[in-house]
Amino acid sequence: MLIEEKLPSDPDRAPVFIEAWLRRLRPLGLNDDQVFGLKLCLQEALINAIKHGNKCNKHLAVWVKIAADPRCLAVEITDQGQGFDPGAVPDPTAPENIGKNHGRGIYLIRQTMGAVDFSNGGRTIKMVMPLTGDRSGGH
Ligand SMILES: Nc1ncnc2c1ncn2[C@@H]1O[C@H](COP(=O)(O)OP(=O)(O)OP(=O)(O)O)[C@@H](O)[C@H]1O
Ligand SMILES: [Mg+2]
Repeated sequence: MLIEEKLPSDPDRAPVFIEAWLRRLRPLGLNDDQVFGLKLCLQEALINAIKHGNKCNKHLAVWVKIAADPRCLAVEITDQGQGFDPGAVPDPTAPENIGKNHGRGIYLIRQTMGAVDFSNGGRTIKMVMPLTGDRSGGH
């Protein structure tokens, strides 16, 4: 299964796109935890691309590619912004950051996905979720 989409840089429209992708991915039979994790990562990565990357500039686009087979699901999100150094992002679990209510998106993605990889100067994030184990529909 392959989903490819070019999105406007409008954070208000992101949730509608995400819901539509999750509906199209339903035949994969993801369990509740997998759907929860995937939705979280799509939200965090897409909002980063729109807000930090494209600065909500409506002349810039975000490209999303979701490729899925029974073994794994790969998501690639690319923006047209300035890029950034993912290695220089502060650790949200460090004592000086623990009370902050931002700076957790990439951390959450790394905790949730099997593999996370930045390329293209930080403008492209690729996340892979393995789909092994019980997929009988959850609890
Ligand atoms: N696509 C991107 N383009 C440019 N900078 C980015 C991009 N994605 C992330 N960043 C930078 O990395 C930082 C950390 O991102 P992260 O998602 O972890 O936290 P946040 O977006 O600041 O806050 P939160 O996601 O918790 O609301 C951002 O503050 C931003 O400086
Ligand atoms: Mg974020």
